Amino acid sequence: MAPSLLANLDSAQEITKFVINEGHGVKGLADMGIQTLPKQFIQPPRERIATSKLASQLFIPVIDMSNSNEQKVVDMMVDAAQMWGFFQIINHGIPTEVFENVKSATQRFFELPAEEKRKYLKEYSASNCVRFGTSFTPHEEKAFEWKDYLSLFYVSEDEAAALWPPACRDEALEFLRMSESVIRRLLEALMKGLNVKEIDREKELMLMGSKRINLNYYPICPNPELTIGVGRHSDVSTLTILLQDHIGGLYVRKQDDDTWIHVPPIPGALVINIGDALQIMSNGRYKSVEHRVVANESKNRVSVPIFVNPRPNDVIGPLQEVLDSGEKPMYKKVLYSDYVKHFFRKAHDGKETVEFAKI
Ligand code: OGA
Ligand code: NI
Repeated sequence: MAPSLLANLDSAQEITKFVINEGHGVKGLADMGIQTLPKQFIQPPRERIATSKLASQLFIPVIDMSNSNEQKVVDMMVDAAQMWGFFQIINHGIPTEVFENVKSATQRFFELPAEEKRKYLKEYSASNCVRFGTSFTPHEEKAFEWKDYLSLFYVSEDEAAALWPPACRDEALEFLRMSESVIRRLLEALMKGLNVKEIDREKELMLMGSKRINLNYYPICPNPELTIGVGRHSDVSTLTILLQDHIGGLYVRKQDDDTWIHVPPIPGALVINIGDALQIMSNGRYKSVEHRVVANESKNRVSVPIFVNPRPNDVIGPLQEVLDSGEKPMYKKVLYSDYVKHFFRKAHDGKETVEFAKI
């Protein structure tokens, strides 16, 4: 398409302007049929996924949630949170239609013309809670990531109705609503493993008082071996619930090791991972594990994570119930919004963020 436009994008500056500032995103480059990866997307070797580092014989657990309060199931979740930081859940009660709808809505939003999507760039968005972008923190990054996203911070139904893009608003809200009881059941199980008998209102708000839903789009990429879809990071959430499509490409780091485990797409399943906030609250018992996404040469991929978070004004630290056993706290108390700001001030850098809270 449009060879003249392609010819105009011959300087690094022009590509950055086109992708980042004008809101074409990496999808705009993919749609033009570029054959070679622009150099600002070339990642240093350490950030790419080397095939020699893949652990082909390992899998993260798949947990059947049909009877999620049975001790056996609770134990599986607690073990997975400690061992892997990641697991998948099936029979969680969310109808697959909800998943199909939010995936289609994601597709629909990213297929909008750049002029439409541009309205939600940081510079133009009517709300701080609605943000369209490319890569992660382009102004801080040495190399960009091959990903476009729409990030929606949930404040209220009214605000969402007024400010979220109509192309995907209802479907994103439906997924949020339907995930509510799954989140509660997951947190109930995980709290049992920390000696927290009951989640009172105050604790509930600290664990799940705010939510962000992201619609991620990873377009077809020339030279995927030279770049990355999402770089090494751990999430800053309490926990993350991720819907991925059938393409695959999410890799999780094996603890204390530099090998990476693929998270295979399972129809109808959700991927659950522990975030930094819960690692801190559990005083390191639950692990917020590094993960990343590879780019794909032949297929577009979508994913929809819901980040379940403390409220911005919560002060988080190791839970008293955990310290009651006599454990020494590994983390200090931090204002959650300070923690999140620290994360968003820098490029993805693996597990560095949590250093901010270490004693
Ligand atoms: C994220 C993330 C994984 C994926 O958005 O934090 O890790 O599969 N996404 O898109
Ligand atoms: Ni993540």
